Amino acid sequence: MARQLDEQIAGRFPVGQRLRVLDVGMGQGTQALRLARAGHQVTGVEQDARMVAAARQALAAEPEGVRARVRLIEGDGRDTGVHFLPGSFDVVLCHGVLMYVEDPDALLAGLARMLAPGGLLSLLVRNADGLAMRPGLAGDWVGALGAFDSTQYTNRLGLDVRADRLGTLTATLAGIGAPLHAWYGVRVFTDQAADAAAVPERGELQTLLAAEERAGRTEPYRRVAALLHLCGVRG
Ligand SMILES: C[S@@+](CC[C@H](N)C(=O)[O-])C[C@H]1O[C@@H](n2cnc3c(N)ncnc32)[C@H](O)[C@@H]1O
Repeated sequence: MARQLDEQIAGRFPVGQRLRVLDVGMGQGTQALRLARAGHQVTGVEQDARMVAAARQALAAEPEGVRARVRLIEGDGRDTGVHFLPGSFDVVLCHGVLMYVEDPDALLAGLARMLAPGGLLSLLVRNADGLAMRPGLAGDWVGALGAFDSTQYTNRLGLDVRADRLGTLTATLAGIGAPLHAWYGVRVFTDQAADAAAVPERGELQTLLAAEERAGRTEPYRRVAALLHLCGVRG
């Protein structure tokens, strides 16, 4: 996913340009810190105080130059209009957040407003079109049958959350002035891996990542990926 994002950034902005990045629902700040290390000016917004604290701790371990480029805000991603002026960012990330939001259209419209013309909106969402894959491959036939016509699922934390369909989000992005520019599947082959499974050794990990990367860009595999990475561009 990071590689896909870097590819999209490289394809849109001149090399070396310091981009203004907004990461909504940044969690522990993994992407925010990675992009700050790459030289960008990053603002993270996160509603969970424990996550903000974890991100602050991780940031404190970074060199001064990186720390100076990161701003962390505890708040709701639906309230970006309270904190920032429209058009203030070149890149807006919203990764792994939409599943927790009841009215995604309002959140997305607010995020699109934050983008400068030509800016990139990067979304990572649970793929509702592939929801039957996880129960089906696990032999849970009742679960698989129930998943075909649903956008609700129970995540690994046991929370009842929402998935999104590619077609619906494509229409939403067009409607909010940030039409879909590219999309990828994420976790095509590895969604079944148990959370506690050992990370493969380096050589095998590289091959696994290469296979995932290829599947995430290839029809028809990407359509049933566990997650979708959608990139919209502000017109
Ligand atoms: C699954 S984590 C993803 C973290 C990070 N973006 C990543 O990709 O690793 C989802 C995060 O979104 C945050 N979140 C959910 N709804 C939010 C909202 N309305 N505003 C801000 N943060 C939110 C949660 O607190 C959580 O930290």
